[in-house]
Amino acid sequence: QQTDSAASPEVLLANPRGFCAGVDRAIDIVEHALTRFGAPIYVRHEIVHNTYVVNDLKAKGAVFVEDLEDVPRGGTVVFSAHGVSQAVRDQAQALGLQVFDATCPLVTKVHVEVAKMRREGLEIVMIGHAGHPEVEGTMGQADGIHLVQTVQDVARLAIAPDAPLAYVTQTTLSVDDAVDIVAALRARFPQVREPKKQDICYATQNRQDAVKLLTSQVDVVIVVGSPTSSNSNRLREVAQRMGKPAYMVDSAEDVRAEWLQGASQIGLTAGASAPEALVEQVIARLKSFGAVAVRQLDGVTESVQFPLPRGLLVRAET
Ligand code: F3S
Repeated sequence: QQTDSAASPEVLLANPRGFCAGVDRAIDIVEHALTRFGAPIYVRHEIVHNTYVVNDLKAKGAVFVEDLEDVPRGGTVVFSAHGVSQAVRDQAQALGLQVFDATCPLVTKVHVEVAKMRREGLEIVMIGHAGHPEVEGTMGQADGIHLVQTVQDVARLAIAPDAPLAYVTQTTLSVDDAVDIVAALRARFPQVREPKKQDICYATQNRQDAVKLLTSQVDVVIVVGSPTSSNSNRLREVAQRMGKPAYMVDSAEDVRAEWLQGASQIGLTAGASAPEALVEQVIARLKSFGAVAVRQLDGVTESVQFPLPRGLLVRAET
């Protein structure tokens, strides 16, 4: 019927969405380690914050631990994409573990900068979310780093007004929140040193830009991502701040028919740790609720790739 098909919603897909180069590499590292050394391969913390990915690797023989004490002596452990503190590195060495480091190279870049600037005697402010493993890893590169989560936190910083000072950020922050916090920091400490290149990574920036474009064209936004995924939560917030209802789903079954009531355009995107297979499952579910067409939005093409660590290549050097 004419009226029914006109009322059938269309699904719009954001681009880019889903896996970034750091997530791709981290999952590859665990899979290569399983192939080369066999199960079990221990992974410290969820390799990336996605339930589907973690369960898939568990089924292949990965064992996820929060504490390296739970890895048997001589075991092989992979550090998650979020990175680890120096204390964790030292602990792995003391325990005699074979380590493959899946820290995203863009997080490692921040680690290196933080350590260097502390050696130069600068005070460091980290803009990030307390308790997130990336923040723990970066703050754990040197002593005395100050964490700031909000504009209000800037006023509370116990740093001398004229102290030499620099800031770094978590890679997956909201670009818009970071702008406000940096402005507050600059207002209080005009001498604050900027990162050479912003620490919010290309993937975070591109996915937030893409969800803005998506949100402007749809009635409701669905973000595929696990509740622990920082960058997925930020995508949902970006859409909500633009005044549209936005929901995060960890799997297709989480999508509820009532979210779609009255919507003629449904926006769909995925956080940097969410696989395309889940996006496809969500599309199938939306179709079962009556969506008829799927349309990809244009967006920037990403070509970033990171190499695997040495020692994991098939023909390893001896
Ligand atoms: Fe790396 Fe950014 Fe992905 S820091 S793991 S490329 S979200």
